[in-house]
Amino acid sequence: MNAITVKDLHVSLAGSHVLQGVDLDVASGGVTALLGRNGVGKTTTLRALMNLTARTGHVEILGQDTDQLATHRVVRLGVGYVPEDRDVFAGLSVAENLRLAEARSTPDYDTVFALFPELRTRRRQRAGTLSGGQQQMLAIARVLLNRWPLLLIDEPSKGLAPKVIGELAEALERVAEAATVLLVEQNLALVRRLASHVVVLDHGVVVHTGSVEDLSDPALTRQHLGVAGSA
Ligand SMILES: Nc1ncnc2c1ncn2[C@@H]1O[C@H](COP(=O)(O)OP(=O)(O)OP(=O)(O)O)[C@@H](O)[C@H]1O
Ligand SMILES: [Mg+2]
Repeated sequence: MNAITVKDLHVSLAGSHVLQGVDLDVASGGVTALLGRNGVGKTTTLRALMNLTARTGHVEILGQDTDQLATHRVVRLGVGYVPEDRDVFAGLSVAENLRLAEARSTPDYDTVFALFPELRTRRRQRAGTLSGGQQQMLAIARVLLNRWPLLLIDEPSKGLAPKVIGELAEALERVAEAATVLLVEQNLALVRRLASHVVVLDHGVVVHTGSVEDLSDPALTRQHLGVAGSA
């Protein structure tokens, strides 16, 4: 069974036809990367999957038809979403931010603190005084706390220093052992490390679906990702 099946997904935003018939399958287990240049519709795709934006077409998530479901009902199917702007509650402590994120009956603090040990040592610190990278870890940790079977994660490495990206990669590797992850990411080294499958978007349609090895094709990366290739 696919974790996600998308057929002919269309989204218009402010009169612009942003998604123009996206077809996409995400296999159960492991990491599928959703790739593409800036502005091609990656974030819009994740928002449409969460029913955070009006859409047409058909989306099945974890075996359920979601076309008529409100966002909170999509979440309840077992979907954790880490949006692109990872705001934390700046005036609250790390521990309070995590407590507010508890969505399922058995929040998994052991895993979160094993993945991000600094959040444990800083649990009484106000989130607004964390570094940018630490705030991003906290935002991701809030979602991981709930052991969702399916995670949609939007550019987790954005703005992070290389060392922190390494820590994040380790954390996501561990998470993907137990969950299906649809990962939007522009850092191709990170994609190569984590993903088994790739889906490439360009101008609101899927232009390539395949294995992560396909990223060694310079024609693909140059044409659709705007990078020279096998870095
Ligand atoms: N609320 C909105 N109103 C109008 N246009 C929008 C809105 N949100 C996004 N867009 C446009 O839709 C297109 C796709 O945006 P989206 O954020 O999905 O791209 P993306 O692939 O996630 O880009 P990035 O890599 O920069 O995050 C862009 O051209 C963007 O300007
Ligand atoms: Mg985006």
